[in-house]
Amino acid sequence: MPSVFIKTYGCQMNERDSEAVAAQLMTKGYAVASDEAQADVILLNTCSVRDAAEQKAINKMETLIGQTRKHNPDAVLGFMGCMAQSRGAELVDQLPDVDLVLGTQKFHRAGEYLEDLLNGRRDKVVDTDEEKGSEGAIREHLLNAQSESKAVTAFVSIMQGCNQFCTFCIVPYTRGRERCRSIEDIVAECRGLVESGVREVTLLGQIVNSYGKREIGVKDGKSAFVQLIEAVHEIEGLERIRFTSPHPKGYGDDLVDAYVRLPKLMENAHLPVQSGSDRMLKLMHRGYTRDRFLELVGKLRTAAPEMGVGTDIIVGFPGETEADFEETMSLCREVEFDNAFLFKYSRRRDTPAAEMPDQLPEELIEERHARLLEAVDEIRVRKFNEFVSRRMEILVEGPSRRNAARLEGRTRCNRIVVFEGGDRFVGQVMDVEIESTSPTTLYGNPAIINLN
Ligand code: SAH
Ligand code: SF4
Ligand code: F3S
Repeated sequence: MPSVFIKTYGCQMNERDSEAVAAQLMTKGYAVASDEAQADVILLNTCSVRDAAEQKAINKMETLIGQTRKHNPDAVLGFMGCMAQSRGAELVDQLPDVDLVLGTQKFHRAGEYLEDLLNGRRDKVVDTDEEKGSEGAIREHLLNAQSESKAVTAFVSIMQGCNQFCTFCIVPYTRGRERCRSIEDIVAECRGLVESGVREVTLLGQIVNSYGKREIGVKDGKSAFVQLIEAVHEIEGLERIRFTSPHPKGYGDDLVDAYVRLPKLMENAHLPVQSGSDRMLKLMHRGYTRDRFLELVGKLRTAAPEMGVGTDIIVGFPGETEADFEETMSLCREVEFDNAFLFKYSRRRDTPAAEMPDQLPEELIEERHARLLEAVDEIRVRKFNEFVSRRMEILVEGPSRRNAARLEGRTRCNRIVVFEGGDRFVGQVMDVEIESTSPTTLYGNPAIINLN
């Protein structure tokens, strides 16, 4: 029985794809290798969004080639995912020891190709072609088959691709055009997950709020995405629904209103803003203004005062002046994000921004990044400390990742809470009182609250 090891880089979509490929291979009789050194098949699921992400995967592959070709010469080595898609056969030219390059519309073919490679029927496989219907081709979930405890949360991919073409971004080239699955198909997958113990699903897509715009359309004033959330909300036994990422453009009042109407929809919004300067937003081709973004955050916080608001920001986009950067700083002070991921602009080939004038020097980008990081961190920690002594509802997910003797769960606004408790709490929605915080974690006490 061959064994497989998959290492994942990049976003939640990649995590979900890796899980699906692992599940697919397990149904074919593969074992999951706990250690890459022992594996018969090693796959790197790659990300291209920034140069650093690509370099990490390439360096890792070079190390693997050095190790396995000495100890395990027959091991199959492969790249899959976004860098596999964007670089294709180039990767094999650069690293001739790589046996498999599997594009983003080909995950469901992994088993078939690996069989050919392991049996020596083929020497190399590079497949990055488009494939119709691939967005719905994989449904298998792994659900912690490895561990004792069952998965309480799961990702569900509702669509693939992106049509927005932000000028800095490679994703429309690695993931292709937008394609969505049907509401029935997604609900059936969620139902199956709930039957196997899942209590929370996160609906995934590059711009989830453009789900089904063309294929399904608006009904009774509700966008297709809100219709989908309502359908998932009906599933008995499902406790919580999240989604990521929505895009500020086209974020309608129907979706704001959904937080008020639908109790299973968690009060958390990851809303990538990218910049606080209208001039930059326009050059980035984001499709909204600073004012429109602020208005949206205001509406969300009015609808649900507990709303956790997170964002992504790019520092050092070509042509960014000190004044533009200040606008981003002031936006962060104004919004007070609960969580902000800051990225240094990375030039991606074949994207329009790569050809724009005034590419900024590395040192300047570093310096602005450090300034913004300090500002957003101070805000984040201050807001985080306000949770102390509050009672919060959590869904208990399982043992804490840092200390398996304790449990961990998430608040409705997506904060991790660690607390002492037995296995019987896993999968339960319960209240805890927050006693203390570390920079990223809340520590709670359920004892007094949940005696029964
Ligand atoms: N679809 C999502 C973002 C997906 S990519 C959205 O538009 O909301 C995740 C994040 O990576 C982006 O929000 C952006 O902040 C960052 N990113 C994308 N391309 C980048 C680049 N070329 N350099 C630096 N950061 C980038
Ligand atoms: Fe990239 Fe923009 Fe599409 Fe997000 S919306 S994936 S940033 S092109
Ligand atoms: Fe990276 Fe692809 Fe996700 S480029 S961010 S892994 S969609």
